[in-house]
Amino acid sequence: MSEVWSPTNIAVVGLGYVGCVTAACLSGLGHEVTGVDRDEHKVQSVLNGEAPFYEPGLEKLVKENVAAGRLRASTSLEEALRNAEIALVCVGTPSEKNGNLGLDQLRRVIAEMAGLIRNRPTPLIVAIRSTVFPGTCQEIVMPALGGHAVVVSNPEFLREGTAVKDFMEPSLVVVGGDDREVVRRAAAIYQPLGFPPSLVSLRTAEMIKYACNAFHAVKIAFANEIGALSAALEVNGQEVMETVCQDVKLNASAAYLKPGFAFGGSCLPKDLRALVYRAGRLDLHLPMLETVLPSNDRHLARAIAKVLDLPAKRLGVVGLAFKENTDDLRESPVVTLLEQLVGKGRDVKVFDPHIQLDLIYGSNRNFILQTIPHIGRLLCRSIDDLLASSDHLVVVQKQGEEIRTKIGRSGLPVLDLLSA
Ligand SMILES: NC(=O)c1ccc[n+]([C@@H]2O[C@H](COP(=O)([O-])OP(=O)(O)OC[C@H]3O[C@@H](n4cnc5c(N)ncnc54)[C@H](O)[C@@H]3O)[C@@H](O)[C@H]2O)c1
Repeated sequence: MSEVWSPTNIAVVGLGYVGCVTAACLSGLGHEVTGVDRDEHKVQSVLNGEAPFYEPGLEKLVKENVAAGRLRASTSLEEALRNAEIALVCVGTPSEKNGNLGLDQLRRVIAEMAGLIRNRPTPLIVAIRSTVFPGTCQEIVMPALGGHAVVVSNPEFLREGTAVKDFMEPSLVVVGGDDREVVRRAAAIYQPLGFPPSLVSLRTAEMIKYACNAFHAVKIAFANEIGALSAALEVNGQEVMETVCQDVKLNASAAYLKPGFAFGGSCLPKDLRALVYRAGRLDLHLPMLETVLPSNDRHLARAIAKVLDLPAKRLGVVGLAFKENTDDLRESPVVTLLEQLVGKGRDVKVFDPHIQLDLIYGSNRNFILQTIPHIGRLLCRSIDDLLASSDHLVVVQKQGEEIRTKIGRSGLPVLDLLSA
């Protein structure tokens, strides 16, 4: 970040696990911090230089920074906001009985804040650090605060038990908002950490927090199901997963983590099916692995519904194999897509640079002629033929430069299912 760093006067609202760690760490970075909580015990603990709960390293940080006069605590929000430039809201958002997110603490604290900031000469930057669902800042926090505050989302990623370390050596710093300057200003409080922040939109920041927690939960459940199946098969699950993680190209990496089209092909569906079948025979119920293929089917159904919704008369599908650079058509989700379109009476053509009936031979040619002859009849010989016989394109496969340029030049509307 280019701007010169200077300490900021910060109010941290809520001194629970997130708030107290945030307040102590930010004061440790040199900021002037006042923590607020309605719980007098937590406030008194901080004033006494003690951590209100056990968290490694927290007590030392609280003690040092209270002694240095950089960390204060109060039960009065008014007092904390008096000189604050930024308020970090860290109140709880517990689950309601139906699983929905409970926003009572957030609504209450924001209403109180709204009454206190009306006469500010400059708007207060309010950073929502509590975990809230996408849209909460725009739909609940901003209307309640009006023009006296600028709202950013600054989700917290710390883990209890290593919270201080996680704050000081972050894995991710996210600040989201609609006003770029304010987003940069809010992110600047973390500058001493020397970690580049991800600056995104408000709703994106809120969603990132949920994506991270869901991903962590999915990883744990996946490892446990593989471990359980390994044990049932007398295989060392620890060794399996340790070795799986040695592959940092395809396994422990960003590979396969981009929202796009459904998967298919001759391996993933077949092997998942076999795994789930064998687990069942061992009386092992693996709900996560069992729902992967149904999840993929559901994703394909959503894509098909999107295509069926297109107003176009003549559809041109770009790609037929389950991915680029192959002519293997086994279990290609595009075949299901085309079958549905034909079944619903749509006029549809398809082009795949690696699947042309007069060029391919052997089992792939036989597969088309014998298993999906109705699809074979839809094949165009070239991208130009497809463009000439379509008035809307549906892209289901990554394409090379030449085809992308031709698609761009054609001026035809495109539904790109790889990024939809
Ligand atoms: N605990 C974690 O590991 C963790 C990690 C990342 C994100 N989060 C999220 O951060 C948020 C806070 O979590 P937490 O575990 O610190 O919650 P917590 O319940 O420990 O702390 C919330 C604090 O807010 C205070 N508070 C509530 N209303 C107040 C008000 N009107 N004025 C002043 N103080 C008020 C409460 O007294 C409490 O001390 C949640 O949204 C949570 O989902 C938690």
